[in-house]
Amino acid sequence: MYKLEVKLPQKSYPILIKRGIINDIGNEIKKVFNNKRIIIITDHNVQRIYGEALSENLKSYGFEVNTISVEAGENSKSLDVLTDVYNQLLDAGMTRKDMIIAFGGGVVGDLAGFAAATFLRGIRYIQIPTSLLAQIDSSIGGKVAVNLSRGKNLVGNFYHPEAVYIDPDLLKTLPERFLHDGMAEVIKYSCIKDKELFNRLREINTELDLFTIINEIIYSCCNIKKGIVEKDEKEAGERMLLNFGHTIGHAIEKAFNYEGYTHGEAVAIGMYCIVRKSESMGITKEGTSDSIKELLVKFKLPFELPKIDFNILLEAINLDKKSESESINLVLINEIGESFIKKIEKEKVAQYLFS
Ligand SMILES: NC(=O)c1ccc[n+]([C@@H]2O[C@H](COP(=O)([O-])OP(=O)(O)OC[C@H]3O[C@@H](n4cnc5c(N)ncnc54)[C@H](O)[C@@H]3O)[C@@H](O)[C@H]2O)c1
Repeated sequence: MYKLEVKLPQKSYPILIKRGIINDIGNEIKKVFNNKRIIIITDHNVQRIYGEALSENLKSYGFEVNTISVEAGENSKSLDVLTDVYNQLLDAGMTRKDMIIAFGGGVVGDLAGFAAATFLRGIRYIQIPTSLLAQIDSSIGGKVAVNLSRGKNLVGNFYHPEAVYIDPDLLKTLPERFLHDGMAEVIKYSCIKDKELFNRLREINTELDLFTIINEIIYSCCNIKKGIVEKDEKEAGERMLLNFGHTIGHAIEKAFNYEGYTHGEAVAIGMYCIVRKSESMGITKEGTSDSIKELLVKFKLPFELPKIDFNILLEAINLDKKSESESINLVLINEIGESFIKKIEKEKVAQYLFS
């Protein structure tokens, strides 16, 4: 088992990574929660595969368990679904002493986390992430949110869980496209902070290879995210490094109305494009973009910009909620594992992004 501790000024919490931990989860939860009532918030896919086993395991440790299951997919991160979740929490008689478990991918984690942050002015919650993206990224760091019709994650908070329990075996049922989607973020971590991880990814040739070392991969990513969050909880500085590839990535997602490309696919293109350009400008070591491309191709991720007018992408970049009024913080790398933030005036941003 790998164990990490996220240490923040107001709160610390453990991240446990262990194959099969889900089968003994009641035992683990007893260590951090000594009341009885738990509500699991999940989505229909995860509920169908794992819902009953989780609920039965918790009951066998004396917990009273209810489940709220929402439709799978991004549309569930909405105010309508959130209202429905609040109503079900009320119906179940949840009080501030009780516990929510977010059991699912990033959608469930963000939705359940935001419900926990706001219901009765905040009740405790635990993350049991089930997608690769959630296991390496969204379950850690306390960002919780829902979307508005005018943009993603526009209503949210920083609200940390009591604990994060990661079972890599759950990924065996994750559809391949979502596995690769998560791999884009794994590649991102290696590019910004961990050359050794990058080299290990290069040695993977089959899905079996990947699953053989998935625990170590998840641990490396969680460790990087934990380190960054501890230094910069509210994204005023270093946490922005996690946005490597996301400037173009978000713009692509938006330009295609969140339908053409998954988040990971859009970030994959974003990473390759920015590095190819920074390499040509002499900022990044020669050959870096080619080695990133090799990895992206291996994990069936795209790397080339879709055929679309640059101005549409630029407009989306300039409207991004993370951009400051006159400038944009771009994440660049000198070489694999060495990243930095560069503030660029908006009118010069295209020079750094597009060839
Ligand atoms: N809070 C953060 O810091 C943060 C960071 C990155 C992304 N996010 C958010 O995460 C969301 C994307 O998360 P995601 O990619 O996990 O999507 P998701 O939650 O929609 O999960 C992807 C799909 O996989 C299914 N699934 C999940 N686990 C499974 C399993 N073990 N077996 C079978 N099916 C499974 C889900 O039902 C869903 O259909 C976005 O809303 C994004 O904004 C949040």
